[in-house]
Amino acid sequence: MKKILFVTSEAHPLIKTGGLADVCGSLPKALVALSQDVRLIIPYYQALKTTENVRFLFSLRVDNRSINVLETVMPDSGVIVWLVDYPGYYNYPGNPYVDEKGEPWENNAERFGLFCRIAVEVAMNRVGQDWKPDVVHCNDWQTGLVPAFLSLEYERPSTVFTIHNMAYQGLFPLSAVGSLFIPGQLWHPGGLEFHEMLSFIKGGLVYADYITTVSPTYALEIQTAEFGYGLEGLLEYRQASLGGIINGIDLDQWNSETDPYIPQLYSETSLADKLINKTALQTQFGLPVNNKIPLLGLIGRLVEQKGIDLIIECLPEMLTLDLQLVLLGSGDKEYEQQLQGLADLYPDNFAITLGYNEALAHLIEAGADAFLMPSKFEPCGLNQMYSQRYGTIPIVRKTGGLADTVTDTLPETLDNETASGIVFNEASASALLEAIKRCLILYDMPEAWRSMQINAMRKDFSWQRSAEDYLALYERL
Ligand code: ADP
Ligand code: GLC
Repeated sequence: MKKILFVTSEAHPLIKTGGLADVCGSLPKALVALSQDVRLIIPYYQALKTTENVRFLFSLRVDNRSINVLETVMPDSGVIVWLVDYPGYYNYPGNPYVDEKGEPWENNAERFGLFCRIAVEVAMNRVGQDWKPDVVHCNDWQTGLVPAFLSLEYERPSTVFTIHNMAYQGLFPLSAVGSLFIPGQLWHPGGLEFHEMLSFIKGGLVYADYITTVSPTYALEIQTAEFGYGLEGLLEYRQASLGGIINGIDLDQWNSETDPYIPQLYSETSLADKLINKTALQTQFGLPVNNKIPLLGLIGRLVEQKGIDLIIECLPEMLTLDLQLVLLGSGDKEYEQQLQGLADLYPDNFAITLGYNEALAHLIEAGADAFLMPSKFEPCGLNQMYSQRYGTIPIVRKTGGLADTVTDTLPETLDNETASGIVFNEASASALLEAIKRCLILYDMPEAWRSMQINAMRKDFSWQRSAEDYLALYERL
């Protein structure tokens, strides 16, 4: 049995802004199911929600500050959670990273720097808990300084750093080096320095014993200039200690046979029941209720990564086709306004909900016929996997985890019963439109469509296999 300290800035159902939370909620749970001893450590944000008891565990002093660490468990899985309670840094309303205007909290370097310091104290068993992890598993830039600080310790645990998204690096001005007391040994271009900025993510990329990312294709892509954001050279240099492990999905939460958020449960043997959810979805979005018209859905952060500009560009032409589109998301204010403008212009076949809404996300997965994910890049992506399990055909661009989890529909993949979606190559509005047209043709071929749905629903995206891969990695280290 391994002792694993899992360090993350978000974990579902405690706090979530995106897929990072889904993974950090469900991977620890899958590791516990493999009989491992896991503690998850996370900042105690104001918006963090738990239904379980929270009790004081210990306090410690770091950088002249006095911090409490509280203990609770994950509401759905019982995984032990340690909450870092420092109200001056974490008791802010709403989003963990940005204020209500969408601007990063101005002291994010200090907030996550302190979090990393505390994770190191826990990792080194210096907090009076008599628990020393074998492995510290860090996730994304917010935790990047942990492997860096640990590299200076004697008899330290092994470190794994998982990249969920290279686009977010935690870059801060030089002044942060002083305020975070970064030791001189770490401060150089081969260390935490990146073009005279402090780079949190480099802490993971340079100093972790092993780097993983969330799909095999993305592991290759980030070693190129297009996806590496200037760090491709470092990643190529670390090639021997870099690998992709595809994310799983939590089948307790994303299961069309048990989902408490959807009006009608269904399975591959009762696909006709899916239509009841379609009707509910059309009603909820105020679109004409019509069983026959293909209904496309999209859920996501409205940011460049997700190809929202392609959607906006091809929407007017897309909406001349016989289809409906519903969209749920929030993010870039400019995208939000443009999408709202288009929804006002085409009320009969395009409707949007701006904001974050978990119940509605489940209804879209259950009620839509197809799901749009034209991402520019996608480290893994979860919605295309949720969609497939819900018999909702994903239309995806061939990148990252989308390439690794969706099989394009072609005569041969229909024959060998692997076809599960529509895959297109070029990141352009015209290629997206072509893919949508291809989808509509297949939608009009009930037999083909049905077999795509069944192939998709039968795919195994459970965590078991990926959690075993992580465990094998921990053991190797
Ligand atoms: P990313 O992590 O890049 O945002 P993923 O596909 O990995 O993309 O995961 C996104 C997760 O966040 C999914 O669980 C998705 O359902 C959820 N999500 C994104 N936006 C919203 C929203 N506006 N409302 C509800 N859930 C959302
Ligand atoms: C990131 C990526 C997404 C991935 C998620 C969980 O937010 O953008 O592709 O699925 O992390 O690993």
